Amino acid sequence: MNIMQYIFPAIGVFGIAVAVFAAVRKSPFFNFIGILIAIYGGLMSMPLIMPPLPAMIIHMYMATAFLTFLIYFSISDETWKAFLRPIRAVLADEDKKVMRVAIVYIFVPLLAAYIAYAGAKPAFAPPVTPRETHPEPPMQMTFKGQTINILKLQNPLRENAAQLNKYTEDGKKVYFQNCFFCHGADLSGKGVFAKAFNPPPPPFMGTDTIAQLPESYVFWRVSKGWAGLPSGSHPWDSAMPQFENWLDQNSIWDVSIYIYSATGNKPRTF
Ligand code: HEC
Repeated sequence: MNIMQYIFPAIGVFGIAVAVFAAVRKSPFFNFIGILIAIYGGLMSMPLIMPPLPAMIIHMYMATAFLTFLIYFSISDETWKAFLRPIRAVLADEDKKVMRVAIVYIFVPLLAAYIAYAGAKPAFAPPVTPRETHPEPPMQMTFKGQTINILKLQNPLRENAAQLNKYTEDGKKVYFQNCFFCHGADLSGKGVFAKAFNPPPPPFMGTDTIAQLPESYVFWRVSKGWAGLPSGSHPWDSAMPQFENWLDQNSIWDVSIYIYSATGNKPRTF
């Protein structure tokens, strides 16, 4: 069990506690903050029960929740006044001087400086070319001449659940012999060669790549590499090798099990 996966549920519970406590103390401002923390923790905990949501959807959902609850708390004059009270207190109250100095003169300028720095820092990112990143796989593919139906393809190793730990170990070996130069020892996409390639190798951790893909897709991409990409993805424009030339099918299924298990992700199923 990976303890990291319980951080977001814990944040969600913390948010609920703050919201309830603030409701009891009749403090709409902290009620608002608590609700937002609870929603964020809840959304980020999704991978425990269903396929994880893409980061973009989470940002959109948070922005909508922020505006909705802001409108909700500003509907009556009385709640809105109470909502603004902690903000006013920090800005104006005599006895909140220390907090004022800490927030207004230290925290906010530091935050602004950081945001400005992060924005101004030159990013050595390669120029973006319009390119399909997750092209639709073909219905079928060949593996060293053998025809494989991708639509119905499942990882055959997963049927043998008792051996899963062994497959994960084998997959780890395959990964560190073949993939980590590009995709990174921590599966972050930041391997030693990564900066040399455009498009860069994607990370496997996080919820935007393999977490959104069924395992048959991973099998196809690893087997066929750059050469298997359709024209919308510029087949010649990728460093991803064609591993059917070096690995047998079981090794590819092993490494697939490893990259899902090491990132705490699950293959997408329909
Ligand atoms: C030489 C560098 C390199 C090596 C080695 C490499 N990859 Fe890749 N890989 C890439 C690049 C670059 C991309 C992104 C471009 C593309 O989609 O073809 C990619 C894409 C992928 C994708 C598609 C991910 C997605 O979200 O669409 C998978 C899966 C993948 N690699 C798995 C592997 C596995 C498993 C190995 C080892 C067996 C491996 N790669 C080895 C460079 C590499």
